[in-house]
Amino acid sequence: MLLSKGVGFFMIKLDNVTYRYRDEDQPALKSINLEIGPGESVCVMGANGSGKSTFARLLSGLLNVQQGQLKISSPRSRPIPVGMIFQNPDNQMVAVTVEKELAFALENLGYAQSDMDKLIGHNLQKFNIVHLRQRLTTELSGGEKQRVALASVMIFQPDILVLDEPESFLDEEGKAALGEELINIKKQRPSMIQIHISQYPYVASRYERLLVFDRGEVIADDAPQNILADMDLCERAGLRFTNRAGQRVVIPSQTDRGGRSGSGALGSVEVDKIRFAYSDSDYVLRNLSCTVRAGGIVGVVGPSGTGKSTLGSLICGILKPTDGRVCYLDRNGNLVDPETVAGRVSGVFQQPERQFFLPTCTEEIAFGPKNLGQRLDSQNVEALFAMAGLDADTFADRDPFTLSGGEKRRLAFAAVLSMSPDFVVFDEPTCGLDQEGVGRFILLARGLREKGVGLVIISHDGQIMRSLADSIVYLRSDAGNLVMSCDEFFENPLYRKVVSPVDQLDLPGQ
Ligand SMILES: Nc1ncnc2c1ncn2[C@@H]1O[C@H](COP(=O)(O)OP(=O)(O)OP(=O)(O)O)[C@@H](O)[C@H]1O
Ligand SMILES: [Mg+2]
Repeated sequence: MLLSKGVGFFMIKLDNVTYRYRDEDQPALKSINLEIGPGESVCVMGANGSGKSTFARLLSGLLNVQQGQLKISSPRSRPIPVGMIFQNPDNQMVAVTVEKELAFALENLGYAQSDMDKLIGHNLQKFNIVHLRQRLTTELSGGEKQRVALASVMIFQPDILVLDEPESFLDEEGKAALGEELINIKKQRPSMIQIHISQYPYVASRYERLLVFDRGEVIADDAPQNILADMDLCERAGLRFTNRAGQRVVIPSQTDRGGRSGSGALGSVEVDKIRFAYSDSDYVLRNLSCTVRAGGIVGVVGPSGTGKSTLGSLICGILKPTDGRVCYLDRNGNLVDPETVAGRVSGVFQQPERQFFLPTCTEEIAFGPKNLGQRLDSQNVEALFAMAGLDADTFADRDPFTLSGGEKRRLAFAAVLSMSPDFVVFDEPTCGLDQEGVGRFILLARGLREKGVGLVIISHDGQIMRSLADSIVYLRSDAGNLVMSCDEFFENPLYRKVVSPVDQLDLPGQ
């Protein structure tokens, strides 16, 4: 339907839209009334679980409107008017290789082979993923997947682009490229609508309009500078974390490593000249050595695909190095049998749902300790929910797979810390968390450090590194690895190429 711009013209219109997931008492979206006109670009913010992704899924037709009305009018009658970048890029991939992923929508739209080849080549270049063309989509790093996802959606030029936290797994270069790409798209296609869900105020400030979701309702719809200046509103809606003096996150006592403290507890993990290759030829890590000490925090940084998560899995003992060793030492410096470190060296992975396999959140939290022969009582479980900032009454019996992105990450924190590990690897821990969650994570990490737990934090977030890490392992794609103190890392202004600028986010100080 070709519509002309004029009074009453809209591209997206929601009339009293309410959405309730099956079996849930509370609706995820409540009476949403909204109009988004042609060419408008909107940023969407809100706390974890406030309904942002549900809104995105309704717009892209993944969920059907149950109550109220949603109208999408496309002036060009595109066959696929809405393109969506998912919060978790794993949910996006449908094809075996990157090339086939880019071809997928074009094939469905009946493009000729020669046109497809041209478009695929052009988009691989534009999104800087030419080198990934023949790679398996299942074997890409998180950041690589996100770039492939964006290329595979932009290739069919949708009228409406919905981006659900697209920067979550991107490195700095990837984030900058995405920002530029969104501006370019806008210039080339002024009538296109962009709806960009983000947890970052700096992303919102690039937009003229910001919508704030709070418990399923739109509580603010205004210019970002007006909304972000309202501290009370921002704090209420999870857009801001205020570090009140002395505020702490209580780490429940059974995660106090009580039974194992003293000589039985691990004192350090030493990564000794390791090399690692997934296949015969390509080494992901070469000659890397570093030490994580009890009560110390090592930050791991580096561009997408340089082996950060691989290093995390090696430290946890999930992968074995091709050459070199990962040694576990007790407090007296004696070698500990790696077979005995299960549960003592644990990881919260980049995509938390990969760790879930039980029907309820409570069982998920209780599983680790049960496996180690410990029992959590209901108070312990409640305290772990509280530590993660999840309401126990609401979440105890929920299926972990139905949680929102940020809720899943919070649950993963509780499910891993329930085992009272001596060392924890956090892979992109703040990805998908709202600002309250980011602040909570910083307090949580400090609490663990005080208890003598050793941490490895893999992150692109400069503020997390600055406020937590003692030393930095910098994995570089070109010239090998660097291990340095945190101060040394931040003294070099080039740090901005690897992590986000430290002055950008409003987070708790030391
Ligand atoms: N498949 C599902 N089944 C049941 N409840 C769900 C499902 N998906 C989401 N929810 C619930 O609906 C509410 C809104 O979830 P949604 O994913 O839209 O939040 P969000 O704002 O995107 O959060 P986040 O910032 O964590 O990504 C939450 O309470 C969530 O737990
Ligand atoms: Mg979401």
